Amino acid sequence: MLHLEAVTRQFGGLKALGNVNLDVAKGRIVGLIGPNGAGKTTLINCISGLDHPTSGVIQFEGTPIHNAEPHHITRLGIARTYQNIRLFGRMTALENLLIGQHTRGHGSLLGAVMFSRAFRAEEQGMRERARELLNRFGLLPVANTHAASLPYGDQRRLELARAIATQPKLLQLDEPTAGMNPVETHALGEAILTLRDEGLSILVVEHDMAFIHQVCDEIYVLNFGQIIAHGTPTEIKSDPAVIEAYLGSSDDGAA
Ligand SMILES: Nc1ncnc2c1ncn2[C@@H]1O[C@H](COP(=O)(O)OP(=O)(O)OP(=O)(O)O)[C@@H](O)[C@H]1O
Ligand SMILES: [Mg+2]
Repeated sequence: MLHLEAVTRQFGGLKALGNVNLDVAKGRIVGLIGPNGAGKTTLINCISGLDHPTSGVIQFEGTPIHNAEPHHITRLGIARTYQNIRLFGRMTALENLLIGQHTRGHGSLLGAVMFSRAFRAEEQGMRERARELLNRFGLLPVANTHAASLPYGDQRRLELARAIATQPKLLQLDEPTAGMNPVETHALGEAILTLRDEGLSILVVEHDMAFIHQVCDEIYVLNFGQIIAHGTPTEIKSDPAVIEAYLGSSDDGAA
């Protein structure tokens, strides 16, 4: 469903991505790993429209998206979370989710002004769905807490819930377990596996190898902007090029 062909992103003289070929098939969890600075976030930015490749092709369900804007890509069904959490800190957990759903809503500005029955019905439905999502991620008790006051793990889960509120087909996660303890990390893995079983496709960037092995069907390894390996978790674990890339970097591999 997601197809990248020869994707290159050049920042001046630096090739952050060089000829990257990558696919995510429907209902798969695909891991993207690699040392710090390998180009993982740049790749996710290019797929979500926050950045654009210098050359190459990105297709989502057959539609070229490499020149598309983020809101367009969201509407096509791609959602993401950020390495550095981006929530509306002064809004409550519930309000953050409602904003996520509004990218899908049909309520027009005029409808909102008129406060029509249809608009109110849609708003009511959104609130119910938002509460369901909060419940799913154990966040219902903090529904009315400002996002900025939530513990780190809760913020990460809220960001994930907000991404899911846009009803995506493909979910991109950039280091979703950063700052989580092992218990939270494992629970997140279970939640992600459930999402996959419900039909969602997932591209996940992570440094936590236990988590990667828990959830991924297949893994791509990026090093200095190049894909140096692609395979099952077991294949990747014993790949000499991968071991070399990790041992040869200053990355402690334990974000
Ligand atoms: N906007 C930018 N302008 C210039 N260089 C950039 C820009 N964004 C990223 N880079 C560079 O591109 C390279 C890849 O960065 P990127 O953030 O994609 O790495 P990463 O794999 O996500 O690393 P980390 O594991 O630390 O998050 C780095 O050398 C980075 O400094
Ligand atoms: Mg990154």
